[in-house]
Amino acid sequence: MTTIAIAPGDGIGPEIMEAVLSIFNAAQVPLKYQPVAMSRAIFDQGYSTGMPPEARETIEKLGILFKGPMETPKGKGVKSINVTARKLWNTYANVRKFRTIKGVDTVFSRAGIPINMTILRENIEDTYGGIEYMQNFDVSVSYRLISKKGTEQFVRYVFEYAKREGITKVTCGHKSNIMKFTDGILMNTFYEIAKEYPGIDVNDLIVDDLAMKLVRQPDSFQLVALTNLQGDIISDLCAGLVGGLGFAPSANIGDFISIFEAVHGTAPDIAGKKLANPTSLLFSGIMMLRHVGLISYADKIENALLYTLETGVHTGDFGAAGSQSVNTDEFANAIIKNLGKLPTESPVVKSAGEDFEFIPPVRPAAINIMVSNEQPVEKLVGMDLFITSDSQASEIASLIQPLLPNQLKLTVISNRGTQVWPTASVFTDSVVQYCCRIESQDNFVPTRGYLLGICENLSTNIQIEDISFLKDYGSLKGYSLAQGQ
Ligand code: NAI
Repeated sequence: MTTIAIAPGDGIGPEIMEAVLSIFNAAQVPLKYQPVAMSRAIFDQGYSTGMPPEARETIEKLGILFKGPMETPKGKGVKSINVTARKLWNTYANVRKFRTIKGVDTVFSRAGIPINMTILRENIEDTYGGIEYMQNFDVSVSYRLISKKGTEQFVRYVFEYAKREGITKVTCGHKSNIMKFTDGILMNTFYEIAKEYPGIDVNDLIVDDLAMKLVRQPDSFQLVALTNLQGDIISDLCAGLVGGLGFAPSANIGDFISIFEAVHGTAPDIAGKKLANPTSLLFSGIMMLRHVGLISYADKIENALLYTLETGVHTGDFGAAGSQSVNTDEFANAIIKNLGKLPTESPVVKSAGEDFEFIPPVRPAAINIMVSNEQPVEKLVGMDLFITSDSQASEIASLIQPLLPNQLKLTVISNRGTQVWPTASVFTDSVVQYCCRIESQDNFVPTRGYLLGICENLSTNIQIEDISFLKDYGSLKGYSLAQGQ
């Protein structure tokens, strides 16, 4: 029998986990549960990741973590336990399913517009690295890291998922009109890998247009793939379309370890009152059952859940106005009573494929370093210096230029991405951080050490906060231009 790790979490977590496991037990789901210590209290014991080493070992051995929501202590220095778990185990694809459910009243269900779509969100990269610095007291920066290999891993999963689920249309959401390199990687990789799946229709939409179209025509989408932060926002938007976070399951899928969890938080305002709706965790648990090969059990429980919702049974957070709500346990008991029943208004769930045995992951021998096959020649052509100054850009230029050798030239100064020297608009408000672009002249190819030496010279007159080297890859410039450059 398969064993999975469970962590009920904080706030309403233990209540909804108990409700879900009572349904699993009533359905005689052949699973064993190994509790692991992961919660707010573990942070307080001094484990900065929110879990002790034993919990980590158990999860790594079993390959599946089923978890309730967990509280991240507020304040500096502590990272979210949820994000840490997803990143630590490289669960690179976040799967969230959204569909109209009979019994869950929304503007779309009232209008007879059926929603049935999945959002797949890259789960490791992007601003979720949480790599941030104060460049000075006034200006902070966040690194938005997007890699080709990480994106490939994610996009391949997107198409494999579509193929497995019989999805015929996949949309890529992005902002590559503005972020040409980072979002460009997602869009280009998407179209590249799509060529291997000729039976699937593909298109792409700028994320703001996507948000508008999701609200206007949600029934025209089947599967949407996005980067991490955009995917986070868009998936909550989709949760809103189908009745809120309480109905949106979430799976974090990796090659070795996968995490299944409710999308909502710990709901401290209703914790301990048995008012919580366990549906999101139950839907996530149903996804988990399919993942570990217990497909027939997943279908049976899902049909009972849909039937129960159709009969109007509901917790206090949803349902017809004026109708009596039930508590968490009563809601779970209603589903248990309906095990074996089929929904009459929603389509009956009958997944493709037979039950199979889940094989826990084999621990990799070492960290997998992912390197692109394509390695074009890199040529250093200059550097961007990020400096702190409250002077006008022209004054900064007259400080820098005389200190540069003939092979290097100050070509542009920008402020918050907008050119302010050699030409500027008097209306461009500036902050006390400038980016000074220094480019090599007449095909001079500097080394990094040479450029750092120049920085050392310049630092007697200007306050350098950060340096980015400018590189060309053949005809491709590996850096963006300033607005107006
Ligand atoms: P929240 O999702 O906990 O609550 C927002 C609102 O939704 C509250 O009014 C709450 O009562 C209601 N709600 C949430 N889940 C519900 C359910 N199952 N049934 C009925 N009502 C429900 O979001 P909030 O307040 O922003 O975060 C609270 C804590 O949860 C924070 O410490 C946060 O870090 C943590 N959190 C954890 C997540 C996770 O473990 N994956 C995800 C989001 C937040």
